[in-house]
Amino acid sequence: MRRPGRAMMKTDNRQDQAVRNTITIDGREIPFQPGQTIIDAALEAGIYIPHLCHRSGLSPHGSCRLCMVDIVDRTETLGDSDRRREGKIQEETRSRSVAACTMPATAGQWIRNNTPELNEARKVITQMLFTEGNHICPSCEHSGNCTLQAVAYYLGMLDGHFPPFFPRRELDASHPTVMLDRDRCILCELCVRASREADGKNVFAIAGRGTRARLIVNSASGMLVDSDIEMHDLAVHVCPVGAILIKEQGYRVPIGQRTFDLHQVEEIDLRKTILPEMGQK
Ligand code: SF4
Ligand code: FES
Repeated sequence: MRRPGRAMMKTDNRQDQAVRNTITIDGREIPFQPGQTIIDAALEAGIYIPHLCHRSGLSPHGSCRLCMVDIVDRTETLGDSDRRREGKIQEETRSRSVAACTMPATAGQWIRNNTPELNEARKVITQMLFTEGNHICPSCEHSGNCTLQAVAYYLGMLDGHFPPFFPRRELDASHPTVMLDRDRCILCELCVRASREADGKNVFAIAGRGTRARLIVNSASGMLVDSDIEMHDLAVHVCPVGAILIKEQGYRVPIGQRTFDLHQVEEIDLRKTILPEMGQK
């Protein structure tokens, strides 16, 4: 028998690798790059997993818990996929919940994402986020461009359900172009990471614990005006709610033409579309 040539072996190896580097989400098999998280592989394949504290390119954080998915334990033997197709194998029973934004994709993972149970849990988390802050959307400049609001629509949230906290946190309007409304902050730390990792600055941090946790500004006075923040910093544009705003830009886009008027949250690539009307860099 002829030995396979080096070129053929290389091709076979690449094909093997490609087959190995796939995961299955809600029955759809998608590829992933080694080192990629489940959510990044999913978003790249056009599969939406609800998320708020994640942004591809910034380090994972795992705090909002919206991206929880179930990894199903399938002890599979050769030929099981055929038997499953023929209906000879029953639906899997055991699963564990993981945050898709921190869990690396691993070959063969069988993942449940868009299920009524997971979406109900996500809706409850979203309701808690709403009631922990002052999210008065009808008067918020960010309404229609807010990912928290868009996720709430996606999950069918009709009310806050829980008693509101009505927090009274300090508003910082000291900077000439950027302002910070802490009562809308969901502590996702996207601005903290964007400032540090993308802007090369260190403008924000979280101080305090539990219900006392709040976003602080790393300047001598603790005010934005004394920080080196600039309106084109990614940290200003990455905020998924209306906590960080650019002054004199509010209500510029007519209702009906705002980001989430035109698209459902699952339809758009949040990695690329963050407030384009505000001149994302
Ligand atoms: S200000 Fe915005 S980006 Fe920063 S932690 Fe709060 S919600 Fe997240
Ligand atoms: S997106 Fe995964 S925990 Fe927030």
